[in-house]
Amino acid sequence: MDGVTDVTFRHMMATYGQPDVTFTEFTNIHDICHGSRAGWEPLRYSDCERPIVAQLYGKDPALFYKAAHVIGELGFDGLDINMGCPSKNVASSGSGAGLIRTPELALEIMASAKQGLADWANGQTLEDIGLKKAALEQAKDRNTQPWPEPEQPPRRFIPLTVKTRLGYDSVVINEWSDCLAQGQPEVISIHGRTLKQMYRGEADWEAIASAAQHIKSRGILVLGNGDIRSRNDAVSRIQASGVDGILIGRAAQGNPWIFQEKDLIRNATHNPNPPSLSEASVSLETRFQMMINHATLFESFNESPRFPRMRKHLGWYCSGFPHAAAMRANMVKTNNAQDVKGLVEEYMSQHVLTEAEAVSASS
Ligand SMILES: Cc1cc2nc3c(=O)[nH]c(=O)nc-3n(C[C@H](O)[C@H](O)[C@H](O)COP(=O)(O)O)c2cc1C
Repeated sequence: MDGVTDVTFRHMMATYGQPDVTFTEFTNIHDICHGSRAGWEPLRYSDCERPIVAQLYGKDPALFYKAAHVIGELGFDGLDINMGCPSKNVASSGSGAGLIRTPELALEIMASAKQGLADWANGQTLEDIGLKKAALEQAKDRNTQPWPEPEQPPRRFIPLTVKTRLGYDSVVINEWSDCLAQGQPEVISIHGRTLKQMYRGEADWEAIASAAQHIKSRGILVLGNGDIRSRNDAVSRIQASGVDGILIGRAAQGNPWIFQEKDLIRNATHNPNPPSLSEASVSLETRFQMMINHATLFESFNESPRFPRMRKHLGWYCSGFPHAAAMRANMVKTNNAQDVKGLVEEYMSQHVLTEAEAVSASS
């Protein structure tokens, strides 16, 4: 999620939740190919996030071809093309969900990206295609802080995947997914809303289910997405729609443990009468430590004027425990990790939780 799932957020998810697969924020192919400092930012990652997929957006097949080489070179495990972003700047210029209106271009982009991944796997270098190696070295350097450099996997053909929506202003997902299937991506992920809906209303899982049948009959995996808020949501949506898996976005904000114990979900989906699953939880102490760790990590990656971008995460963590609202109100005014630590210490000194409160805080 643009503006949310940066490297520090994803590191927290990997540490405390361990999702099966993680996607970067969407990244502009122009920025990648021109190697601008800011352009590389969303592509920083640490090894603990693997498998990690880089998500790109744009509408120029030639640039996708080049960008695919960069994604291979940076050691990602997959390349995902965004065909679902509804934002005006992106979609009205023909990228993101705008591609739903230009299916031929969408197929051309997929073919080009795939060819780029294949040529890179077969040994073609960045110099061969006219990209500056120096810019990439700089990107890799930046990637190493504060962890060791991510291990460079051997050159191999990494999978191409696509994430999209149900349609532009009406639901056309069956025809649209038939078209996408011609490009033979490994996975098609579907957010159950049209562009016109943005994030309004409920995700339409019946439409996802219908498309899933089309897509799976072509031997392509399908991931459903939209409004999964709990393990029980995950189980019931997978069972009812027949998707191969689900993607979780907003419910992971301040809540990495939603990804814990995925085997419970996997087992329940095979059970015709699945048991009701309790939500995973952590103690209040762990939650507070997580807030401090996240803020500290954020600081180590960013100049201090950027700290206000961290505040929303702190607000999301402040939920579900006694006096959380008051703490949230203070957290969203913090300017550095030290402030966060101070507020946690203040809370601990002011509130001696009873055993019952501490338990409810962790659920
Ligand atoms: C702030 C924000 C930024 C997002 N950025 C992206 C993005 O960069 N790429 C993408 O594929 N989807 C993006 N999305 C959409 C989400 O990935 C997801 O499809 C949508 O929120 C529905 O899933 P959820 O109900 O689990 O959040 C974004 C959503 C939000 C709220």
